Parts: sequence; C-alpha cells; structure tokens
Amino acid sequence: MTIRIFEDYEKLSRASAERMIDQVLQRPDSVLCVPSGETPKGTFRHFVAMAGERNLDLSGVTWIGLDEWVGVPPHNPGSCGNFIRKWLLDPLKIRPANVHLFNGMATDLDAECQKMDVAIRNRGGLDLILVGIGMNGHIGLNEPGVSPDLHSHVMELAPTTREVGQKYFQNHTVLTRGITLGLKYVLAARTALLIANGEKKASIIRDTIAGPISTAVPSTIMHKHPNGFIYLDREAARELHNE
Ligand code: PGA
Repeated sequence: MTIRIFEDYEKLSRASAERMIDQVLQRPDSVLCVPSGETPKGTFRHFVAMAGERNLDLSGVTWIGLDEWVGVPPHNPGSCGNFIRKWLLDPLKIRPANVHLFNGMATDLDAECQKMDVAIRNRGGLDLILVGIGMNGHIGLNEPGVSPDLHSHVMELAPTTREVGQKYFQNHTVLTRGITLGLKYVLAARTALLIANGEKKASIIRDTIAGPISTAVPSTIMHKHPNGFIYLDREAARELHNE
C-alpha cells in the first residue's frame, strides 16, 4: 500500500484524476468504478477537464457506480447515481450502454446485485476502483463488521452513515440500507485508490493506516491490496506520525 500526502485538496484531486487518465491511456477498454460524495468532486472536475484537453477517447471505458441508497430514486439529487451522472458522466457525454449504476428503487435488490456482478464479470473485472472513506471507515456502503468476502450486496446502514448521509439531501431522508459493491471488489480490482481530505477525516485515516487490520474498520482492507494507494491532503494526514 502506497500513501501519498499532497499539499492541498486541489493537488490531491489532480493526482487522482491523473491516475484515472493513465489507466485509460494504458487500457482504453478499462473498467472503472467510481464513488459519490464530497471527496471525489475535485477528482471528477480535473478528470473532465483533462480528458477534454487531451481529447481522450473514452468510448471503450465501462463505468461502474460504487453504491446507492436503498429507497432513493435515481433522479433525487442526493442519490449516488445522480451525483456520478452530474459531475462525471454527463459532462463527459458517456453513453448509457457503458454505465452500470445500482438502482436503489429496484423491487428485487438481490437481482439488482446479481445484475451488477454479471456486468462486472462480463467486462473482465475492475481495473481501477476509486473510493472515499466514511467517518466510520466504511468504503462504499460496507459498514463496520462487514464480511470481506462479499461481491455486490445490501447492507444495513450504521447510525453514523444515516446521520452523515443527510448532508447530500435537501430534506431529511430516511436512510436505512445501502446497495454496494462489496470489499471483495476492492481487493480484486487491479488498482485501488482511496482518497480523503480535510481534518474531519484525520482520525479515521489514522485508524486505517496505523491501526490493526480489522473488519471493525473496513478501510483497513487497503493494507491487503498489492496495488493499493491512499491519497491524502495534509489535513487528513495530520494524525499520522512516522507512517
Ligand atoms: P464524503 O463521503 O466524500 O462525502 O466524505 C465519503 C464516504 O462516505 O465514503
């Protein structure tokens, strides 16, 4: 696992966008998994700008959405799918055929998970998975205690996530379950990149990097990844000493 600390959020975002660009240049038919949330906004902004400047051919890339709130419709501005479309896929004019996002309104959530697993398998697995980190160490909606052996699955949300998740919604929204790629995908991806910025992430980043590897902190799975990267800004790295 490689840790890189950047001076600020802009530099961190630019570097993670560059990693995505490099991936596409290396393999134009890459399968990229992307998250939603405040953290990846800068990465997406830089990626869209750089892809435009370099006239990057994205026609062969498959885009996978990391997770979704169960019961939240895709058009709701707080939904993960809406976020990914708005900040990344729409500006890049990506064809819907190249996109796989969970539908949080699916009546059969198991079938929705299977659909995602089949889509990823048919494309040969994930080349790059970009993830943020929750205040409790979740990756996607893999909450503390989650089994590391799951592919796509539905998970009961931790109290912290139900509360923190309100920041994405204009009105109070009942969040109880999430549908998410499991940690098995994080480990199996050819490259895994976790990004975190800001002081509020400093303690969970310390637990992730310096604490024991444990399902109680799902993000510690990054230690097991042979090609795993953690990109931080200075504030998120402020509780790390000698690591
Ligand atoms: P954030 O969310 O980027 O909005 O902090 C991260 C997460 O919960 O994974």
